[in-house]
Amino acid sequence: MKIVTIVGSLRKESYNMHLAKTMQDRYKNKIDIEIADIRSLPHFDQDEENNPPQAVKEFKESVESADGVIIITPEYNWSIPGVLKNALDWASRVDKVFIGKPVMALGATPGMLGTVRAQMHLREILAAPGIQAKILPPGGNEVLIGFAHQKFDEQAGQLVDEGTLSFLDSKAEAFIDFVKSEAH
Ligand SMILES: Cc1cc2nc3c(=O)[nH]c(=O)nc-3n(C[C@H](O)[C@H](O)[C@H](O)COP(=O)(O)O)c2cc1C
Repeated sequence: MKIVTIVGSLRKESYNMHLAKTMQDRYKNKIDIEIADIRSLPHFDQDEENNPPQAVKEFKESVESADGVIIITPEYNWSIPGVLKNALDWASRVDKVFIGKPVMALGATPGMLGTVRAQMHLREILAAPGIQAKILPPGGNEVLIGFAHQKFDEQAGQLVDEGTLSFLDSKAEAFIDFVKSEAH
């Protein structure tokens, strides 16, 4: 099963990137996770959407060919970061590569609310006509990691909190089942 992960932070020591790498490593026997390069994406420009720059073509192709997408993002000013919105805007035009794509959303923050406001915005965005992703149904499937500075080993770049890891395992299983159930 091929999964593309989009991380909403470009920071070198990003907790959200650490989470993406933890998942890539921890679930490698079950899913093949590729982390998308959204740093290379230029600002969305509608004049270029029909013949976009190479980085955009590659990003859209990787989403198109994936069985599912995992979005892991911090919260910036109560919403999702601009770099993530930019990636979603490119993906929402011309060949709309998210339509029907199974998506799981997660977020980590040192704050206590665990990116909940960003996640709520993200879910609205993912339902937009140009995106229409199939989001892992909420109601127990939200992965909101607060107090991240206490749960990650920053040297190792990994999530290490046992309780969070076992919760993550159950939600990763739920997503794998969801992707299988959505496959045609
Ligand atoms: C521009 C900016 C805005 C932020 N706004 C929020 C916010 O609204 N809510 C929150 O919990 N944390 C906020 N933070 C703190 C981030 O959660 C924190 O920097 C986090 O570590 C970023 O994720 P990363 O470690 O993956 O880079 C903000 C940080 C930045 C740089």
